[in-house]
Order: sequence, then C-alpha cells, then structure tokens
Amino acid sequence: MQALRVDRLTDDLSGVQLVNVPAPTRVSGEVLVRVRAASLNFPDLLMTRGEYQFKPEPPFTAGLELAGEVLEADPASGFAPGDRVMGGNKTGAFAEIASVPADKLALMPQGMDFPSAAAMGAAYSTAFTGLVELGALDEGQWVLVHGASGGVGLAACDLARAMGARVIATTGSPAKADRIAALVRPDAVIGTAGRFRETIAELTGGVLADIVFDPVGGDVFDESTRCVAFGGKLIVVGFTAGRIAEVSTNIPLIKGFSIVGLRAGEYARRFPERGAAINQAIRKLAEAGAIVPAIDRTLPLSRWREGFDAMAQRQLVGKVVFVPGM
Ligand SMILES: NC(=O)c1ccc[n+]([C@@H]2O[C@H](COP(=O)([O-])OP(=O)(O)OC[C@H]3O[C@@H](n4cnc5c(N)ncnc54)[C@H](OP(=O)(O)O)[C@@H]3O)[C@@H](O)[C@H]2O)c1
Repeated sequence: MQALRVDRLTDDLSGVQLVNVPAPTRVSGEVLVRVRAASLNFPDLLMTRGEYQFKPEPPFTAGLELAGEVLEADPASGFAPGDRVMGGNKTGAFAEIASVPADKLALMPQGMDFPSAAAMGAAYSTAFTGLVELGALDEGQWVLVHGASGGVGLAACDLARAMGARVIATTGSPAKADRIAALVRPDAVIGTAGRFRETIAELTGGVLADIVFDPVGGDVFDESTRCVAFGGKLIVVGFTAGRIAEVSTNIPLIKGFSIVGLRAGEYARRFPERGAAINQAIRKLAEAGAIVPAIDRTLPLSRWREGFDAMAQRQLVGKVVFVPGM
C-alpha cells in the first residue's frame, strides 16, 4: 500500500516520501481502517521537522487524522467491518490502511462525507475543549479568534457562532479576510499587523474580548493581553508565529484575566468521560448542520507535497484533505 513516510527529520520536507510498504496487520485493541480521507494538521508539518511536542523516531508514517471504513475489528471494540469511522493516533493516517486503537476512533456523524469527517475531528475538538470546556463560553460573549484562516481557527469561529457568541476573526494575511468572512460569517475580520487593541475596543463597544483563542502566539499573543476583558480568558492554543511569548504576571493580575493552557488531546486522555462528552456534543452540532468543517482543497495523497507546502507558506483558508489511492 502507499504510505507517506518520514525517513529523516528535516526543515524542508526532503526526508519525507511516498513509498510502497506492506499494509499493517491489526494488533489486539486496534481497528484496521481503510483510509478514505486524511486531513493535514499543523502538528503533521512540525513532526516532519522534529519540532512537535510528540517526537516519533523516524521512520514513521505521517498523519494524525483520518476517516474511513472499518476492515477488521475485535467485536469487543464496539466496531464492526463496514462502520464509517473517524479519529487517529498521532501518526499513520497518511496511508491506504491504518491500524488505530479502538479508543481513538468514533463513528462518523450521520450524513457526513469522508473528507468532512477527516477535517472535523481534531480542529473542532480543539475548539470545543478550549472555548466551551475550559473557556465556559456563553451566548452573547465576545470571542477573538486568531489564525482564523487555519483549520483550528476556522473551527473556533464556526463553533463560537453556533454557540451564539459574537466573533472577531483575525488574520495575518489580509487577502484571506473575504474568504474567512464568507465561510464562518464572523461579526468582523481584522488584520493583526501592528496594534489591534483599539479596533477590538471599538468593535465590542469597550467591552473587549471575553475569550481570546490564540493558535498564533508571538506578537499576536503580546497584543492580545491588551484585548481581554476583566474576568476574561486568554487561551493558549499554539505558536504558528514561531515565537513562544512571555508575559509579566502583573498584567493578568491588574487586568483580572486568566491565561489558560489548552491541550485538547491530553485533556481527553486524562478525562476520558469529558472527552467522550465533547465528541458527542460536536457530533450533535454537526448532525444538526450547525457546524461545517471548511476544506481548502482535496488532493490525492500523491500530491502530498502541494498540501504541506501550502500550509507552510500560509496559503490555506481551511483544511487540506488527502485521499489515498486516488
Ligand atoms: N493546543 C491544542 O490542543 C492544539 C490542538 C491542535 C492544534 N494546535 C495548534 O494550533 C495551531 C494551528 O493549527 P492548524 O492545524 O489550524 O494550522 P493551520 O491550518 O496551518 O493554521 C494556522 C494559521 O496560523 C496563522 N499563522 C500566523 N503566523 C503564521 C506563521 N508564521 N506561519 C504559519 N501560519 C501562521 C495562519 O493564518 P493567517 O495566514 O491567516 O495569519 C494559519 O492559517 C498549531 O500551532 C497547532 O499546533 C493546538
């Protein structure tokens, strides 16, 4: 079968190649899945460089998120051949067949296609865990979402809107603003070049943001400490800008806000019942049509390089989905 293998950790993808390898055989506790679609997440890119917190030893098959059909499963797993499932286990998704632990899979929402299911899981569980579970998002609150053109950022905008919040989306690439607006209909889309606190104050009528959801970090995080309302939350999601910001602790004290660290996957591992409840809530919203994952492009796995390059060069508005064997 075809698989996208990382043979060496490099910062230019030169250690990554599509290879033919034997299909995995199912081990106890795992489910064998024919991958119909697999989506690209920023951590996939970081893992090819050895820059993600989880550092698998090469060679490994890339891909943390997939949707597909069950080929083989232990009856005790709760899955049966033919079930349409979504999920993933940090690596192994960018292949024609993957063996995934049963507890890392869920049935796809009714009526959803494979690309949407592959694009939804990680982005929406990250958004839900941050905004709803840790952020206690309430209807009518102001939410400021950075990196809003990204998979996680668009999911956060979409989810916040579905929950009745007022959303200000930001982008460091102003040319993407119209596409973000069309996809998730936020109250405003603004650029993050320079200072943006006054714009947030104006848009919110002086309230500022009840929740800031920040996958970008760096200068955007620094300015965000000036944009949080008293009693609000600044959620640290990631560092796509490449700089991990530092903050003087007098700032959250004086301004009365909390800085909240988000690790959506780890949260679900430590609190499996909460993780299951989060997945269930997302599934209900998806089945009701209240949330819709945004896909920038669908590519055959053979064109993996195009997808990775587009992500690295910030060309995307939404997710890249790979279809193996296409
Ligand atoms: N904490 C968690 O549990 C968790 C879970 C999943 C993902 N994450 C993190 O969330 C972040 C976003 O992931 P994603 O899959 O949504 O990635 P993505 O689709 O590539 O989106 C990232 C967005 O960040 C913005 N950005 C700003 N500066 C950038 C730079 N220098 N290089 C690249 N992008 C830059 C880009 O938007 P503009 O061009 O519009 O500015 C881009 O669309 C990553 O850091 C990832 O590791 C965290």
